Amino acid sequence: MISPRILWILLMTYFSWKGVMTLDREACMPIRLSPSRQDSLPDVETLRIQRGLPGKDGGIGPVGPQGAQGPRGLPGTCACDPSEIAQIHVFLGNVTAKLESLIALHHYALKVDQCDHMPCKNGGTCINDGNSYICNCTDEYEGHDCSIRIQCVVPSAPNNGTISRESGQLVLYKENITYRCNDRHVVAYEVNNFLVATCQKTKQWTKDTPVCVVDDCNPDSCSGRGTCINQIGRTICECDEGYGGSDCSVQNNPCDLSPCGQKGVCVREEAMNYTCRCRAGYHGKNCETIIASDCVRAVGMEDGRVGNNDITASRSLGGHPPYKARLRQTGGWLSQRRPRRDDWLQVDLKTSTTVVAVATQGYSGGSYWTISYKIAHGFTENDLQIIQNNEGQDLIFQGNRDYNSVVRNNFPAPVTARYFRLLVQTWNGIFAALRVEYYIC
Ligand SMILES: *[C@@H]1O[C@H](CO)[C@@H](O)[C@H](O)[C@H]1NC(C)=O
Ligand SMILES: *[C@@H]1O[C@H](CO)[C@@H](O)[C@H](O)[C@H]1NC(C)=O
Ligand SMILES: *[C@@H]1O[C@H](CO)[C@@H](O)[C@H](O)[C@H]1NC(C)=O
Ligand SMILES: *[C@@H]1O[C@H](CO)[C@@H](O)[C@H](O)[C@H]1NC(C)=O
Ligand SMILES: *[C@@H]1O[C@H](CO)[C@@H](O)[C@H](O)[C@H]1NC(C)=O
Repeated sequence: MISPRILWILLMTYFSWKGVMTLDREACMPIRLSPSRQDSLPDVETLRIQRGLPGKDGGIGPVGPQGAQGPRGLPGTCACDPSEIAQIHVFLGNVTAKLESLIALHHYALKVDQCDHMPCKNGGTCINDGNSYICNCTDEYEGHDCSIRIQCVVPSAPNNGTISRESGQLVLYKENITYRCNDRHVVAYEVNNFLVATCQKTKQWTKDTPVCVVDDCNPDSCSGRGTCINQIGRTICECDEGYGGSDCSVQNNPCDLSPCGQKGVCVREEAMNYTCRCRAGYHGKNCETIIASDCVRAVGMEDGRVGNNDITASRSLGGHPPYKARLRQTGGWLSQRRPRRDDWLQVDLKTSTTVVAVATQGYSGGSYWTISYKIAHGFTENDLQIIQNNEGQDLIFQGNRDYNSVVRNNFPAPVTARYFRLLVQTWNGIFAALRVEYYIC
């Protein structure tokens, strides 16, 4: 009995390529050669050798010189269940000579690149995923090996209409068919008497079969101010911009759309033209631009609309509480003696408010004022952001140079928040002093 330690090149199952075939001592199987399949053999050079186990001693004997002659010298001592891997074919072709030299490598088995035999048809791309392969088909094809052309079935023609291809025919992906309505008919919900549908990858058409209806539109249907569309059993008008009503006879009022918002008053002019009379500080066609220097509405520090309890400070000198910090009123807020940088005075505006500027004065009795400060803002007291400059650093506002002049600073951009906190940076005298107002548009 010949019992060389032979490696088998097991390349193909009956239906498709299998993955790595690592032979081991148990992998004993019946072999049938398949002459008819030799043509599709991959070149033996494309086989890659992978580490594995030797074939079983006393396994299947040597093969014929031209391969496809059938098993020879089958020892018939196969120990495993042949039914486990049915229909395995051994392809040898001109592999025989190679096989002999591979015999020396009896500690190795062979691996096949699943894509080597180019299984994907019609330009599909083969992707080897180790144990098998996937065909990435071009747009026009589908199926495991890209052999199926994508086609749509031509539907039946609409009542009172025709179709450019015969019903039931197959039409290729991306191709068009045209529905056409008979004389004096149009496609319902469309303006034309025809409709083009394209075959999609899903094998569905881009448009369903249309309904052809008698054309009930006439040139006067929409007062010459819109497009008449036939629906089923009625017509409707799609009016030109500026017109409304069922027959487009009503001219719309451009101010109905509130183009100026709360920032100005809309005044209708001829046709669809309008003007926004913008409130102070707002500019532009729709009052969309804010110019802070023009915004002069105070939030109510000076006139008392901001309540005493809504003005707070980090630390205050007795008799000079935070609520004294009202612009142009007598007195003012005083910090404790020897203030610290970032001592603060805060106002709670109660609701989200867009503030554009702040103005400050010092203590009306003289001697004390705030030379520079930062402004922080936010919607909760413990999450405040400081206004930044263009470089992303805290912006330092230059404040007062004497105790009584009002110095106003516009913010670089409007700030919307509930809390506004002025953080003292430098001051004159032994107290930091403030009288404050904030401005909105
Ligand atoms: C078979 O392989 C041998 C060497 O491996 C080579 O010389 C010979 O030309 C091949 N025959 C065919 C028909 O490819
Ligand atoms: C399949 O082919 C398309 C087009 O060439 C490509 O965009 C896509 O990434 C491919 N899919 C895979 C899984 O490689
Ligand atoms: C439109 O089609 C319907 C149904 O097939 C038919 O009864 C009707 O006579 C047709 N109308 C015209 C104007 O051809
Ligand atoms: C199909 O119709 C679309 C417009 O509906 C057009 O862009 C396209 O070129 C047409 N394709 C063919 C193959 O005629
Ligand atoms: C609307 O106003 C613009 C600019 O003021 C003007 O050019 C246009 O003619 C006006 N349109 C109508 C319909 O009055």
